[in-house]
Amino acid sequence: MKIAVIGCGYVGLVSGACLAEIGHEVICTDNDSSKIKALNSGHIPIFEENLEDVVKRLHASGRLKFTSDIPEAIRAGDAIFICVGTPPLDTGDADLSAIENVARLIASEARSPKLVVEKSTVPVQTGKQVRRALQVYGRGHGVQFHVASNPEFLREGTAVEDFLHPDRIVLGVEDQGAERQLREIYQPILDQKFKCPVHAGKCPPMPPVKLVVTTINSAELIKHASNSFLALKISYANVIADLCERLSANVDEVTAAMGMDPRIGSQFLRAGLGFGGFCLPKDVQAFIRLAETAGVDFSLLKEAEFVNKRRISAFVERVRKALWIVKDKQVGVLGLAFKANTDDIRFSPAIEVVTRLAREGARIQAYDPQAAERAQALLPDIQYAKDAYATAKGAEALLILTEWPEFRSLDWEKVRDSMLRPLVIDGRNLLNPGKMAELGYEYYSFGRPERSAVVPVV
Ligand SMILES: NC(=O)c1ccc[n+]([C@@H]2O[C@H](COP(=O)([O-])OP(=O)(O)OC[C@H]3O[C@@H](n4cnc5c(N)ncnc54)[C@H](O)[C@@H]3O)[C@@H](O)[C@H]2O)c1
Repeated sequence: MKIAVIGCGYVGLVSGACLAEIGHEVICTDNDSSKIKALNSGHIPIFEENLEDVVKRLHASGRLKFTSDIPEAIRAGDAIFICVGTPPLDTGDADLSAIENVARLIASEARSPKLVVEKSTVPVQTGKQVRRALQVYGRGHGVQFHVASNPEFLREGTAVEDFLHPDRIVLGVEDQGAERQLREIYQPILDQKFKCPVHAGKCPPMPPVKLVVTTINSAELIKHASNSFLALKISYANVIADLCERLSANVDEVTAAMGMDPRIGSQFLRAGLGFGGFCLPKDVQAFIRLAETAGVDFSLLKEAEFVNKRRISAFVERVRKALWIVKDKQVGVLGLAFKANTDDIRFSPAIEVVTRLAREGARIQAYDPQAAERAQALLPDIQYAKDAYATAKGAEALLILTEWPEFRSLDWEKVRDSMLRPLVIDGRNLLNPGKMAELGYEYYSFGRPERSAVVPVV
């Protein structure tokens, strides 16, 4: 099928590349012409495992195209996937202006029947507004539009794999034509019949992909409800960590055992600095606002958001206590991305921590395996190191703010010997407290008994 993808950010680029990978002809477009120019010259604007290979190969084969001419893309696609951003407004509501903008453009530019698919995360009942916009602004052309919601559940860091091997595909449809077209689009994934770029064609056995067909309203709600539940889970684990600290239990032991219960599951129970990124914080806010508008009390979710915000303050307070005086101290920072395996720093807890400490006069020296370049644009006044060892050199504290696996396997003796003071404050519970104490570190993390080489102050 011929598919147009509007919005070449994380979701648009991954969706476009994967849809081309499974055999469709895809044309991607964006109103940021510099992004399209970069893509056409072989530069992939985001770091995402496997993505570069897939994009370059399919672009070279002609099955994946990029154009800054949005009307051209609209006319070329039988199905149009809307993947534009839906950032938060000051009120917490999702800003849907890009969605409306794109719907108007589709309405005025389409000359043949189109299936318009919302892939962006949007509040429930946005589909109704999209359909209305298509009718209002498309009158006179006699073009038939079908609207569908197809929320995306990919995780940055494993996005290509998630798209090609999803747990479920949710199709929110209101007519059989839309359902038929979407089934056709996703059939290769449902059948797992494509040459997988992630596993070099030899995928491990996986449970069958579930297809969930719902109304558009339900599909939209499924996405917000899922992300908000994940946020709740993280905040829950963080409150358990606080309890463990006060009552001398170990959050790692508690959450590991909790997670063995299949009704709970082990993921998203990791205590630490809390959630960030472009999805959870804004989706939680938008869901709270949606509930308020609908007259439903969702203070449960408000509390999860509040708990999450408090994590940053609690961490900064821990740094203050450990350092005593923050001003003019050299502080090494490991990790700036909102999570490992991505260069995305949007709403990253690490950026917030660094901003606050820099404001208090700390001399920050930071390192991230992928996100430093992006961080530089946002935080031009801190120092950036070439690797983790250079970050630690001469530092009076080393903060772990992103759970990059490479930080776990550093030569921690070498790190210790290069620091002015062997103090590690681990915001991601990445390291083993006992081992760090044995190595002579003063080490703090969340919800685990402190085993410090010196008298703990926190
Ligand atoms: N990032 C994720 O992990 C993820 C996962 C699932 C769902 N989502 C949702 O998908 C949507 C997109 O997220 P993202 O992370 O890809 O965002 P993004 O900011 O990386 O990408 C959005 C792209 O849309 C383009 N754009 C904005 N307005 C446009 C317009 N009017 N016309 C054409 N292009 C326009 C921007 O230039 C940008 O390239 C959001 O609603 C998000 O909540 C994101």
